[in-house]
Amino acid sequence: MTTTPRKILVTNALPYANGPIHIGHMLGYIQADIWVRFQKMRGHECHYMCADDAHGTPIMLKAQQLGIEPEQMIADMNRAHQADFSDFNVAFDHYYSTHSAENQELAELIYTRLRDAGHIKTKTISQLYDPTKEMFLPDRFVKGECPKCGAADQYGDNCDVCGATYAPTELKNPTSAVSGATPELRESEHYFFDLPAFEDMLKAWTRSGSLQEEMANKLNEWFEAGLQRWDISRDAPYFGFEIPDAPGKYFYVWLDAPIGYMSSFKNYCTTTGNADFDSYWQPDSDAEVYHFIGKDIIYFHSLFWPAMLKGANFRQPTNVWAHGFITVNGTKMSKSKGTFIMARTYLDHLDPDYLRYYFAAKLTSRIDDLDLNLTDFAQRVNSDLVGKVVNIASRCAGFIQKKFDGKLKADLNETNLLEEFQAAGDSIAEAFEKREFSRAMRDIMALADKANFYIAEEEPWQLIKDPANAERVHEICSIGINLFRLLMIYLTPVVPELAQRVQAFLNEDFNWDSHRSVLKDHAIAPFKALLQRIDMDNVTKMIDASKEANAANQPAASSSTANDELSKDPIAAEINFDDFAKVDLRVARIANAEHVEGADKLLKLTLDLGGETRQVFAGIKSAYDPESLIGQHTVMVANLAPRKMRFGMSEGMVLAAGPGGKDIFILNPHDGAQPGMRVS
Ligand code: MSP
Ligand code: ZN
Repeated sequence: MTTTPRKILVTNALPYANGPIHIGHMLGYIQADIWVRFQKMRGHECHYMCADDAHGTPIMLKAQQLGIEPEQMIADMNRAHQADFSDFNVAFDHYYSTHSAENQELAELIYTRLRDAGHIKTKTISQLYDPTKEMFLPDRFVKGECPKCGAADQYGDNCDVCGATYAPTELKNPTSAVSGATPELRESEHYFFDLPAFEDMLKAWTRSGSLQEEMANKLNEWFEAGLQRWDISRDAPYFGFEIPDAPGKYFYVWLDAPIGYMSSFKNYCTTTGNADFDSYWQPDSDAEVYHFIGKDIIYFHSLFWPAMLKGANFRQPTNVWAHGFITVNGTKMSKSKGTFIMARTYLDHLDPDYLRYYFAAKLTSRIDDLDLNLTDFAQRVNSDLVGKVVNIASRCAGFIQKKFDGKLKADLNETNLLEEFQAAGDSIAEAFEKREFSRAMRDIMALADKANFYIAEEEPWQLIKDPANAERVHEICSIGINLFRLLMIYLTPVVPELAQRVQAFLNEDFNWDSHRSVLKDHAIAPFKALLQRIDMDNVTKMIDASKEANAANQPAASSSTANDELSKDPIAAEINFDDFAKVDLRVARIANAEHVEGADKLLKLTLDLGGETRQVFAGIKSAYDPESLIGQHTVMVANLAPRKMRFGMSEGMVLAAGPGGKDIFILNPHDGAQPGMRVS
């Protein structure tokens, strides 16, 4: 360590628990992960927290749509999110959920402190209400005609056609997007947080000069427009925490969401003992707290959140760092173009280090949008990481291995270039510290060019032909490997998997200060390919898979001529017989089939396995009359883990083909198959 260790807490925006992570999301998580890895490499005490944002109306409705309990849905989603992050090597020290005991406690604590300090007010407001669903409708769940231009099918808060913004009560011919019913106006008492009371404190923060310039400008615009009280309550039915002493009233999801940063950390402190919660959150804390967020949620993080913390006597964040949005090939991610790419779809086709490097090569500390141009992506990664950096090692390692027993030379004489590379460490570190990752990458690649130039000039492959040059070749290649090593130390926060392979190759563990030393008289491992080039074919496959994933989620086109099924949905990756044998398929007789009250898509089937019956909820209501199914034979997955749905347990799955809607076709064995027979 060159400085005293800092105490740092870093968070990323908490992703909503109603959908999978896509590559747009990944920008902020990769950005923060690089910064955290850098801090840890420098020897600082840095804790990196995240969680799923599990509350709110969209999550409640999505679970209803799926016919499962919200608790079940958010648990499934939490697992999927964690797998996506971990496979992208976003290494949170803790990943939790806002639907947790700690979060409820802290939300209640903060709320009661605000209330007792006089910062909570109540007021009766009128809102659109869905009389069939018996719920108040958030703006985005009301549709109707724009009050300004008359365009049909516009959402409750703004018009896509003319850009007007308005209140949902102004929409002409409004309908509920949940049920289709005509909403009516109803009154209800709401709880408000007195944001204007914190204006002075927020202005001081804005003027402190530490905020991103664009963020400070935004804040000034909001101050000019005048701060408003913030509506923090929602009426039942709502998936969230009930407000203390206010039955039927719930905290609006955005009240308890940022508190999730604290509660994730709290749970981490208690379960691991790695840090002391209070020393990070008490008002006079000497720790640093940073929130990485997207530009769309600045208002919540730069106004409500610091004010809430202040009012509840907790420390405020040291800083909030916003990033821009991802576009793909120059436009908004698009489902039909296949550029709405899920994190998992990316991982199925490409190495996470590629995207991490590309983002780093384009990220600055500003809030600019960032374009993922897929052709440029492949070219950049191939030319920088493979063509420049890894190339240095592959040009030198063979000679070290074959001619010099795998050992680097003990005394190096031409150390100019090495010293230059080492000296660059401080300014590269400064760039990482300031989140100027593109500058760091540019500096590193400029050094890589110099290393390649050096080796090309010296031509060890020519020199080696004359045994008299052996020592010279040993010198050049040992310097080459050391130059490569320095570049990889600097790249470690960005491309952790590649860096891992390089550390194995060099027999060494990197930290940031490793760059102050040089490897001499040091054994290295035999060189193996460290990084494959990006094959554009895999990029194309990823796009195609994204198009298909989207097509599969769309209602089927009326009469699709299904002769190109394979091109729409190519055969999955090969599995071995043991993989297949894990799935226990059985013939089942449909003993009963019936509608499920309140379910739009499901039928409840009772399946007879010849000695055992199973209850299965199948999403086939759009294609089958229950009566027509009774007595038929079909095939089911008999050993699928039971799943708790909103309407009861589902104990297996029946096999069916087709895109959905009217086009669902249940499998039917030939006559003679008996219930319980294994299908293999
Ligand atoms: N749940 C809230 C955050 C609560 S924080 C207390 C939320 N969730 S989100 O799932 O919609 O977004 C998670 C993060 O991803 C946010 O920082 C958001 O800005 C970011 N992004 C979502 N789409 C994005 C792009 N296309 N590009 C870059 N970041 C994007 O907001
Ligand atoms: Zn309009």
